[in-house]
Amino acid sequence: MTISRHFCPFLTLFFTLIASVQAFTGTYGINYGRIANNIPSPDEVVTLLRAAKIRNVRIYDADHSVLKAFSGTGLEIVIGVTNGQLQDMSANSDHALSWVKDNVLSFLPETRIRGIAVGNEVLGGNDYSLFGLLLGAVKNIYNATKKLHLDELIQISTANSLSVFADSYPPSSCKFNDNVNQYMKPLLEFFQQIGSPFCLNAYPSLAYESDPEHIDINYALFQPTKGIYDPKYDLHYDNMLDAQIDAAYAALENAGFYKMEVIVTETGWASNGDQSEAGANVTNARTYNYNLRKRLAKKKGTPHRPNNVVKAYVFALFNENLKPGQGSEKNYGLFKADGSISYDVGFHGLNAGDSSLLSLKNFNSQGLSGSYIMVFSISSLILLTFWSW
Ligand SMILES: *[C@@H]1O[C@H](CO)[C@@H](O)[C@H](O)[C@H]1NC(C)=O
Ligand SMILES: *[C@@H]1O[C@H](CO)[C@@H](O)[C@H](O)[C@H]1NC(C)=O
Repeated sequence: MTISRHFCPFLTLFFTLIASVQAFTGTYGINYGRIANNIPSPDEVVTLLRAAKIRNVRIYDADHSVLKAFSGTGLEIVIGVTNGQLQDMSANSDHALSWVKDNVLSFLPETRIRGIAVGNEVLGGNDYSLFGLLLGAVKNIYNATKKLHLDELIQISTANSLSVFADSYPPSSCKFNDNVNQYMKPLLEFFQQIGSPFCLNAYPSLAYESDPEHIDINYALFQPTKGIYDPKYDLHYDNMLDAQIDAAYAALENAGFYKMEVIVTETGWASNGDQSEAGANVTNARTYNYNLRKRLAKKKGTPHRPNNVVKAYVFALFNENLKPGQGSEKNYGLFKADGSISYDVGFHGLNAGDSSLLSLKNFNSQGLSGSYIMVFSISSLILLTFWSW
């Protein structure tokens, strides 16, 4: 490459985008869960996401109808290896290679697959038989991306629930639970080597629900409150999500990982739930999701890590009528199954569609099949402008 990068800011941006393995651009993403038989089609989802200017999306599998619908849209997607596939992926590197070929390589570059989440909430979960399989599966999937020269494009990670932690109050005292430590440390060492972040599923709603007598709901909802004080850090927290993220940073530091970034791969609040689920109602769900959106738009770090801008994927896009478990599980959607909003956080439902969005889709799909590199870098710029808010 002989062009001076100094004089060519577009190319510099282009190479910056490619050079760092980043599955996330911007700060606001969404989980597109599909355990439902009544939600809009993947094509309609594209329309919905573009109208909402949500660019970062996660799915829990590698559904080909979704990957096809996302082709040429500019949406950036993280796909998943399910927990049920971990045994096979850890035991057979050739299966991992075929999986990456079939579900990633064959959709690139038109579908912007940017990450693979290997397993979901494995460590700290109920199925101990999976604990020992996770790292092997992660390594085989990573090796497959490397073999296919996709390791600079595709970020490998796994999402952790808060149950991997012990002593998370105050945040500075947090560490990994004894029962996950022996699996977590080698996993983090590998993630550190390949530059992957620590992915956290963080739900202030569940903390509130577990102790509604003592937890101030305003603290969980980003509403004005006196908050908490962390004496070791000498820091004040005015909302629980920031505290949960800093607890994850503390656990990482206590385990010797000082540089790893924490990304929130799920957070949300259910708009309905069982009698026993305190706080799961539409008022609180709207307040949480409205304030979360404002919090993320500030592009600010946490009290302990002010330079690590908080990035989060909201859970979830739709209410999912077939989700098992408590009533709340079916009611996390920002949108109802018919595509209308569950409550107003500034997004529009499907039927309030905007026809001008269609022209952008056409522009992009033409661009990607033409002079790929230049058009890609220019349309990235346009999209960065278009999606940023
Ligand atoms: C991954 O690939 C490297 C070299 O390409 C090899 O040394 C290593 O054993 C592989 N790891 C696994 C888990 O297959
Ligand atoms: C929602 O729950 C809060 C308590 O968390 C309660 O104060 C409020 O009245 C409830 N709102 C509705 C609409 O049920």
